[in-house]
Amino acid sequence: MLTLTITTRLLLLLLLSSILHVHVLVVLSCNQIDRDSLLSFYTQISSPTHLNWTSTTDDCCQWDGVACNGDDRVTHLSLPGRSLSGTLTPPYEYFLAANLSFLSYLNLSHNHLSGPLLFTPFHTLNHLQTLDLSFNRFFGPLQPPPQSSFLPVSIQTLDLSSNLFNGSIHPSFFRRASNLITLNVSNNSFTGPIPSSLCTSSPLLQILDFSANKFSGRIFHGIGGCSSNLKIFRAGFNSLSGWLPYDLYRVKTLTEISLPNNNLSGPINNTIALLSNLTILELHYNQFSGELPNDIGLLSNLQQLQLHTNRFNGTLPPSLMDCTSLTTLLLRNNLFAGDISGLDFSKLQRIQAIDLGNNNFVGNIPQSLCLCRSLTALRLSYNLLVGEVPPCMASLKSLEHLSLSDNYLSNVVGALKILKHCENLSVLFTSRCFNNEPMPDDIDLLHLNGFQNLQILTLGGCQLTGQIPSWIARLRKLKVLNLSINQISGPIPAWLGDMPSLFVLNLTENHLSGDLPREIGRLPALIADNASSDLSYLALPFLFDAKQYNRLFNLPRGLKVGYNNLSGNIPPEIGRLKLLHLLDLNNNNFSGSIPHELSNLVNLERLDMSTNHLSGEIPQSLAGLTFMSSFSVANNDLEGEIPRGGQFDTFPITSFEGNPKLCGNVLGRSCRVVPQDNMAPEEEHESAWSNAPFGVGYFVGFFVVSITLVFHCSWRCGGGDNFNDLETRPNVIY
Ligand SMILES: *[C@@H]1O[C@H](CO)[C@@H](O)[C@H](O)[C@H]1NC(C)=O
Ligand SMILES: *[C@@H]1O[C@H](CO)[C@@H](O)[C@H](O)[C@H]1NC(C)=O
Ligand SMILES: *[C@@H]1O[C@H](CO)[C@@H](O)[C@H](O)[C@H]1NC(C)=O
Ligand SMILES: *[C@@H]1O[C@H](CO)[C@@H](O)[C@H](O)[C@H]1NC(C)=O
Ligand SMILES: *[C@@H]1O[C@H](CO)[C@@H](O)[C@H](O)[C@H]1NC(C)=O
Ligand SMILES: *[C@@H]1O[C@H](CO)[C@@H](O)[C@H](O)[C@H]1NC(C)=O
Ligand SMILES: *[C@@H]1O[C@H](CO)[C@@H](O)[C@H](O)[C@H]1NC(C)=O
Ligand SMILES: *[C@@H]1O[C@H](CO)[C@@H](O)[C@H](O)[C@H]1NC(C)=O
Ligand SMILES: *[C@@H]1O[C@H](CO)[C@@H](O)[C@H](O)[C@H]1NC(C)=O
Ligand SMILES: *[C@@H]1O[C@H](CO)[C@@H](O)[C@H](O)[C@H]1NC(C)=O
Ligand SMILES: *[C@@H]1O[C@H](CO)[C@@H](O)[C@H](O)[C@H]1NC(C)=O
Ligand SMILES: *[C@@H]1O[C@H](CO)[C@@H](O)[C@H](O)[C@H]1NC(C)=O
Repeated sequence: MLTLTITTRLLLLLLLSSILHVHVLVVLSCNQIDRDSLLSFYTQISSPTHLNWTSTTDDCCQWDGVACNGDDRVTHLSLPGRSLSGTLTPPYEYFLAANLSFLSYLNLSHNHLSGPLLFTPFHTLNHLQTLDLSFNRFFGPLQPPPQSSFLPVSIQTLDLSSNLFNGSIHPSFFRRASNLITLNVSNNSFTGPIPSSLCTSSPLLQILDFSANKFSGRIFHGIGGCSSNLKIFRAGFNSLSGWLPYDLYRVKTLTEISLPNNNLSGPINNTIALLSNLTILELHYNQFSGELPNDIGLLSNLQQLQLHTNRFNGTLPPSLMDCTSLTTLLLRNNLFAGDISGLDFSKLQRIQAIDLGNNNFVGNIPQSLCLCRSLTALRLSYNLLVGEVPPCMASLKSLEHLSLSDNYLSNVVGALKILKHCENLSVLFTSRCFNNEPMPDDIDLLHLNGFQNLQILTLGGCQLTGQIPSWIARLRKLKVLNLSINQISGPIPAWLGDMPSLFVLNLTENHLSGDLPREIGRLPALIADNASSDLSYLALPFLFDAKQYNRLFNLPRGLKVGYNNLSGNIPPEIGRLKLLHLLDLNNNNFSGSIPHELSNLVNLERLDMSTNHLSGEIPQSLAGLTFMSSFSVANNDLEGEIPRGGQFDTFPITSFEGNPKLCGNVLGRSCRVVPQDNMAPEEEHESAWSNAPFGVGYFVGFFVVSITLVFHCSWRCGGGDNFNDLETRPNVIY
């Protein structure tokens, strides 16, 4: 009975499959050669996500990612993001495609394909127009096999971007590619020069993207060969040098020239004015010099002019204000000079960001800026500007970011009374631009609502006199308050502890006296991360504590009251501020002992209590602060043994000196007064002291460094790898 059933089933199966087979033969419409070619490709690559190529029909035109023309020849193969892995490289003699002679579109982007492409015979695909291998792991140079070429004459779009290609691009690689329109090799590690014959072999090119590689040498002469079609030319984030070639200025079709982060030099030739369709000109972070072209105003379509961090000099040509399409004008970190008061910025009705920081501009703040209705970010810092903030600036309703630091302005009260009308203002830098005036006090500002969106306020280094005014308490969104290096006297007000958003308070170098109020230990934004953490990017990056940031959320949280006349005990409530990274209490008159509660500050990276009158012992529990890389209690009246273990084994003698009663190895003063009989032998003790904790300290130190790197990555990595982050690079001084 059992045997019979099995036989019947077998028979049935046979019958079924032969019917199916007939059926398949009937509907099969895919070309046999194409199908074999696809199957040979299939054997080369593997895919964890199932392709329905073998399990279903033999009609390859119905397979995943395959499309055919009316003659049932395969024209499209599109398998982006299918987790394909493997290589397209010999030893496989039967590379997929050799016989897919009608294939015009091949898209294998966003997979894990790898290996060199050296001998992959794409040139046999005589109809291939689009080849997209971007976002894979291909490596090696681009070099055609001897006596052959890599690309078929039909190729129009070639995207090899975001792979691991290295080595150079051989000029003959493009020999036959006379129809090429788009070439993107960005985000690889190509070396050597940009292939110079490109515009000769491929005069139809419209888009060229070489950015984020290691190309060196000059930008090729010969780009003029592309003069009837080229629209986009990108080669930023390489090591290119030399002047812009003259024939670049003849490519009138250009809409975008983007060459930031290279070592290019020389002037911008005045003939650039002929590129009347230019909308984007990005030459920042180079060595360009000379004056801006007088005729730059002819570029009436120019939207983005980014020339920051070069060596441009001279005055701004008045015609710059005829670039009426400008939305972004970034000229910071150059050697520009001259009086800007008379420039008519009001013609720039679309401008959103103007950055003139760190130049040698003189004159007043231009009144015409007030008529730029779309202005959201304005930086004038680090110049030689004089006069007052013009009253008309009250009409800049879109302004979010204003930096006036490091100028020679006067009337800080007037400035704040005007700027409080800029309702969207969230960042206001006005450090070192006023001098020795009274602090704007409550009589001036308390009853005037305003600044309700302010998140950063700096008024440091202005030698302002008076007390900390209570209008500041109304700034409910304020995260950063810097009043350092002034002549502010009186107490630190207790209400500061109730400011809901404050996480950086810098009162360094004033004449503040009295206690550090225990209410400071309530600062909510230093106790718990309020969910309102603002991740948005600022219109302009800014320097803070000598580092560059382009958003607020990753600023190191700190409480800095060093160099004042504060007295009394360090309130133990400070220990609640778990999110603190920096705590400076140094150079005051604090007395009493160090509260052990400070060991709750688990994120602390720096703790400075030096030069006070602190007494008692250093709490051993502070050794548990594993991120602390800087610590000082020098010049106090502390006693007893310096804590052991953790980071304490890495702090230098200078952290502790000036405390005659402290003891410990780092000071060379033994803590043991009378050796007792039952103690361990000295050698053993010493070795335990010097070896084991060193190991731990080393490990902890390494951990801190790693964390710090990750922490700052959003700006630090912007310099090299993350080329999207065009605005950021470390060590730029405004
Ligand atoms: C294979 O999958 C695609 C969708 O991914 C579908 O459109 C096609 O019909 C399938 N082919 C067969 C033969 O099942
Ligand atoms: C191409 O097809 C021919 C016969 O049609 C065959 O001899 C050859 O091996 C095929 N080549 C590849 C790479 O599949
Ligand atoms: C390739 O496919 C990806 C993903 O669908 C797509 O974004 C990309 O534009 C395609 N490439 C080309 C050249 O069409
Ligand atoms: C080139 O490809 C990268 C991704 O690899 C992309 O970000 C960039 O926009 C492309 N360039 C052009 C000009 O489209
Ligand atoms: C650059 O390529 C890497 C992979 O090689 C990718 O992860 C990254 O997103 C790419 N960057 C850009 C800007 O396309
Ligand atoms: C390119 O990268 C591959 C794989 O990392 C390496 O083996 C090869 O030596 C590199 N070639 C060049 C020219 O740097
Ligand atoms: C400039 O752009 C316009 C509009 O897109 C176009 O008609 C014109 O041909 C372009 N000029 C050049 C020189 O490419
Ligand atoms: C950049 O170019 C200058 C000359 O213009 C040269 O002195 C300098 O060494 C170059 N720097 C790099 C990193 O190539
Ligand atoms: C501008 O380019 C022309 C050639 O097109 C050249 O003769 C002239 O000297 C260049 N001017 C500057 C300032 O480089
Ligand atoms: C600008 O710098 C160039 C050298 O790069 C110098 O020859 C020229 O005199 C300078 N112009 C001004 C106005 O300082
Ligand atoms: C002020 O900011 C808000 C929120 O970002 C925005 O909706 C509004 O349009 C801005 N006001 C002006 C005048 O730009
Ligand atoms: C605090 O102010 C001092 C003195 O101006 C300055 O050196 C330091 O960078 C400031 N720190 C912060 C976090 O604002």
